[in-house]
Amino acid sequence: MTGEEPLKIGIAGLGTVGSATLGYLMHENARIAARAGRALKVDAIVARDRTKDRGVDTAGLRWFDDPVALAKDDGIDIFLELIGGADGVAKAAVEAALTAGKPVVTANKALLAHHGAALSKLAEETPGASLHYEAAVAGGIPAVKALREGLAGNGVTRVSGILNGTCNYILTEMEETGAAFADVLLDAQKLGYAETDPTADVGGFDAAHKLAIMAAIAFGRQIDFAGVEIEGIENVSSEDIVAAGDMGYRIRLLGMAERTAEGVSQRLRPCLTPIDSPLGAIEGVTNAVMLEGDAIGTTVLTGPGAGGGPTASAVLADIVDVARGNTPPTFGIACNDLAPARSGLSIRDEGAFYLRVALEDRPGTLAEVAAALGEEGVSIHRMRQHEHTGNAAPVTIVTHTCDLAAIEKAKTRIAALPASVAPPVAMRIVES
Ligand SMILES: NC(=O)c1ccc[n+]([C@@H]2O[C@H](COP(=O)([O-])OP(=O)(O)OC[C@H]3O[C@@H](n4cnc5c(N)ncnc54)[C@H](OP(=O)(O)O)[C@@H]3O)[C@@H](O)[C@H]2O)c1
Repeated sequence: MTGEEPLKIGIAGLGTVGSATLGYLMHENARIAARAGRALKVDAIVARDRTKDRGVDTAGLRWFDDPVALAKDDGIDIFLELIGGADGVAKAAVEAALTAGKPVVTANKALLAHHGAALSKLAEETPGASLHYEAAVAGGIPAVKALREGLAGNGVTRVSGILNGTCNYILTEMEETGAAFADVLLDAQKLGYAETDPTADVGGFDAAHKLAIMAAIAFGRQIDFAGVEIEGIENVSSEDIVAAGDMGYRIRLLGMAERTAEGVSQRLRPCLTPIDSPLGAIEGVTNAVMLEGDAIGTTVLTGPGAGGGPTASAVLADIVDVARGNTPPTFGIACNDLAPARSGLSIRDEGAFYLRVALEDRPGTLAEVAAALGEEGVSIHRMRQHEHTGNAAPVTIVTHTCDLAAIEKAKTRIAALPASVAPPVAMRIVES
């Protein structure tokens, strides 16, 4: 270790991530400092409740009541924002630390997705400041470093992944137990896998934040959260999970950002993917990130996307980077050289689709569905009628490659058929 002054760390937020990070910095300090090449010292902390037990001895640390005051304090060299929230005190404190010329480490994907463009500009234009956020994408999986540093030489073609453990847990449980979405969500809430207000997770927003961050790095563009098309898992039914399984697929909430001839598409939605594909094989709360580039081909990273230890692992990696003086541009390319965001661009959504229709069980109805699809130029790759009781016959169809717009029009036609007994359901199929 050099005789250099220790890197003095200020931690804002001592919840799941902050207290785990503090614990490692206290108990594993020598090991981490050796990697950092510099002594590391936690100097000051802030949370709301000073009396709460954090599981770590905080006695010798300076306590602040205001995260912004800590962010500006001359006694710290690096500021960790582990509070959360796209706006409010987390944003104010990060801005204050960057303005004061300090490196900032954050796990806050919502903040990055909504304000990443302005914050990266502030970080890059302020001497001494830098912005680090490995923990904001897929928790413990080193996805940011893999993409920004490891694949820096690649022309990235596609970034995809399972980016929310709560959703993947719910879909896996629905598959294994046959239970409905609402019942599994309730159990997940009781077990602590889902928040009391589950909207950010099951509505797809949390995963969309991470997708927007990865797309900015992958395609050298300003972050464009408004340009992410988002659909959550609330409407995934057990009927669809069973029908998908019968055809060798699983339903997964996939985030996918792709370079196309028309621009970069960013989509987050439930898709069918083969059970034995890299993303289809992912079960439970595990996350996965699949990166595709011209030189590498495909690489897949899997691991825990949340939790104190895994997320602290990513925060600690960023602290080591700062101690080593390794501060690349926030999104891999200087922010003034990033391509502009292109929100509002309509990019063709092409591929094979899964379609489930429920029809009256009488002769000729399948022909009517086939005709409706034909009218919209959708051709059938395979079709299957499932065992049923009662008068509604469930039929699943896999189409050849076609446009989502054609599928939507075909759904409207099918829904209007006298034989149709429930609205048709369509989902994209992603083969790999
Ligand atoms: N949890 C995960 O697995 C995970 C994974 C990846 C990324 N993240 C991100 O990491 C960040 C932190 O998440 P978390 O799960 O650790 O959250 P958390 O458990 O809710 O902890 C939040 C912490 O912030 C403190 N805090 C809140 N408002 C404050 C205020 N106005 N002033 C001072 N302190 C305040 C709280 O203080 P008190 O403790 O005194 O209430 C608490 O210590 C979020 O951005 C989250 O998205 C979390």
